[in-house]
Amino acid sequence: MNQVKKMLAIPAAVLALWAITATAATNDDIAKRLEPVGKVCIQGQECKGMAVTASAGAGSARTPDDIIAKHCTACHGTGLLGAPKVGDSAAWKERADHQGGLDGILAKAITGINAMPPKGTCADCSDDELKAAIEKMSGL
Ligand code: HEC
Repeated sequence: MNQVKKMLAIPAAVLALWAITATAATNDDIAKRLEPVGKVCIQGQECKGMAVTASAGAGSARTPDDIIAKHCTACHGTGLLGAPKVGDSAAWKERADHQGGLDGILAKAITGINAMPPKGTCADCSDDELKAAIEKMSGL
């Protein structure tokens, strides 16, 4: 009986050791995978791998059409909830006239107005991007 226990104990110990090593390797892998995320990119220095994220975040890669298609047409395409329709310049112009021009309606688009959500749901849009989208939709 004692002999049997010993025979079982050895493989068990080996197995336990293997399990610990395996976990350590996994943790290493996780650390490696997380590393690029934690790396800081300093302005003016090359920062490979972050370029794509940075340009997407800054929006330089998207056109007004991209923004309109993704965020604005849901309402402005059909005039949902009373939204001025894409291409209906008269409706947009009337609004612009009341709000002090393109910058006036831009300001409303940023803060939101009635059923129009702040930034038209494009939370990471810059003011310039919103302005370009409004110009395109309104023809102003
Ligand atoms: C959930 C629907 C919805 C979405 C999405 C939406 N809008 Fe609007 N928008 C509206 C409605 C409704 C109005 C009219 C609000 C009112 O005057 O009562 C409006 C009005 C506006 C106005 C005129 C504001 C004014 O001062 O009269 C601008 C500019 C505008 N939207 C820009 C945008 C842009 C740019 C986007 C996309 C980035 C966008 N909207 C996305 C619903 C939406």
